[in-house]
Amino acid sequence: MADLNGSTVVAASETIKSHLALGLDFDNREVALDRALALREWFGVAKVGHELYAAAGPSIVAELRDIGYEVFLDAKLHDIPNTVRSAARVLAGYGLAYLNFHTSGGRAMLEAGIEGALDGAQRAGHRAPKLLGVTVLTSDSNVSAFDERLDLAAVAGCDGVVCSALEVATVKARHPKLVTMVPGIRLAGSDTNDQARVATPYDAIRNGADVLVIVRTVHHAADPCAAAEQVFREVTAALD
Ligand code: C5P
Repeated sequence: MADLNGSTVVAASETIKSHLALGLDFDNREVALDRALALREWFGVAKVGHELYAAAGPSIVAELRDIGYEVFLDAKLHDIPNTVRSAARVLAGYGLAYLNFHTSGGRAMLEAGIEGALDGAQRAGHRAPKLLGVTVLTSDSNVSAFDERLDLAAVAGCDGVVCSALEVATVKARHPKLVTMVPGIRLAGSDTNDQARVATPYDAIRNGADVLVIVRTVHHAADPCAAAEQVFREVTAALD
């Protein structure tokens, strides 16, 4: 990027960051915010999962937005349609970029969740979040349900799906307009932990992944900033 002027470099960096979601899997608000601030240079999206949401409450969404992140609430809603509609309405009112539902909840549940989320965002004056269907957890090596859940997400009106890097090509072939949010990302040599379907940042983006969820491969690294920079460099190279 040496030949680009300053503002172009910033714009390019913002584009790369929009492909990178930092998972803040911490049980403490201060620790999560400290980490979010420290790694702000490399990530455009912050992912709030069950652990942080339970520890910090809904105000964490606004706090992350205030420091410049878009927020993915990894709520993985799964309940009867009426309950999911109501919960999605409340959650989308906090100002989210992404919210997700388990596709295993079925079409009526997904449609209700989408309806509630769009209503909640509009009532609160926020942009509509991208609504994602979780297909098969990346910790599960059995992907036999994948195609059916993918098609269900599409027919119900989801904007995208959560899937591993190994299924992105299938998503893009069957439903090219769906956004792919991809967990199970590991730098080469990093522990896979409980994940069964993993890929490097470079390979995931080359496979066509839209947004990578980055968690333990950075937080558990000896030097999290160096690991984050490595992730960012791989994504930059893969998008080139
Ligand atoms: O540390 P690691 O990169 O494995 O973390 C993956 C993150 O993505 C976790 O926060 C997990 O809850 C989330 N996730 C996932 N598989 C899905 C959806 C979300 O691992 N299908």
